[in-house]
Amino acid sequence: MKSTDSPGSTAGPAFSDPAGTWNRRFTETGYLFGTAPNGWLAAHAGVWPSGARVLSVADGEGRNSVWLAQRGLQVQAFDIAEQGVAKARRLAAEHGVVVDFAVADCDSYAWPAGGCDGVAAIFIQFADPALRARLFERMVACLKPGGTLVLQGYTPRQLEYRTGGPPLVSHLYTAPMLREAFAGLEIEVLDEYEADLAEGQGHKGRSALIGLVARKRR
Ligand SMILES: C[S@@+](CC[C@H](N)C(=O)[O-])C[C@H]1O[C@@H](n2cnc3c(N)ncnc32)[C@H](O)[C@@H]1O
Repeated sequence: MKSTDSPGSTAGPAFSDPAGTWNRRFTETGYLFGTAPNGWLAAHAGVWPSGARVLSVADGEGRNSVWLAQRGLQVQAFDIAEQGVAKARRLAAEHGVVVDFAVADCDSYAWPAGGCDGVAAIFIQFADPALRARLFERMVACLKPGGTLVLQGYTPRQLEYRTGGPPLVSHLYTAPMLREAFAGLEIEVLDEYEADLAEGQGHKGRSALIGLVARKRR
């Protein structure tokens, strides 16, 4: 299956015009990654007690933020694609939950300074190494001491599967890269594994994954 995080045979459009590219994808009927939460997030969201304040980064069509709000968390979420955020708002309304949504690029979003108990960063591999460094720095900065980051991405082996994710090795994660990037956090879980994903049409089939749970020291 062709990668759905970057259209066509070149990586260009998704990265030179991310808002336009993702808006076009999210205009299609249905939810590209489904309406159920990401599996790694669902398995690890227990790190956040009810009432905790959690930020969902590049939240897309809202499957993760809405599910977190249904668990009794106070959720903020942003995404560059207004069409995605519009669908996320509808999903939240359908489930009768409140999420503080914003349409924003990760570089211009008003990140909550020092205020979050948690950050959910699920398949945010739109970022090249320079953007990723800024993005990861902001994610760590917005965690309170004791707050926890839950992150999921693809490893370079995913280039063999092409069942989701960008077709660019520089955007993918390895365990040493994540260990180095989050050296300031206490890494509680870091797993590289393979699984058959069924997260909408966007992330479907055998996948080479990596998941991280890391806590900011008090
Ligand atoms: C693979 S999707 C994942 C969406 C969501 N996290 C999920 O798991 O369903 C990547 C998301 O990143 C968003 N995105 C791409 N570039 C971005 C940027 N510079 N700032 C914020 N969001 C961005 C896209 O609009 C898209 O919703």
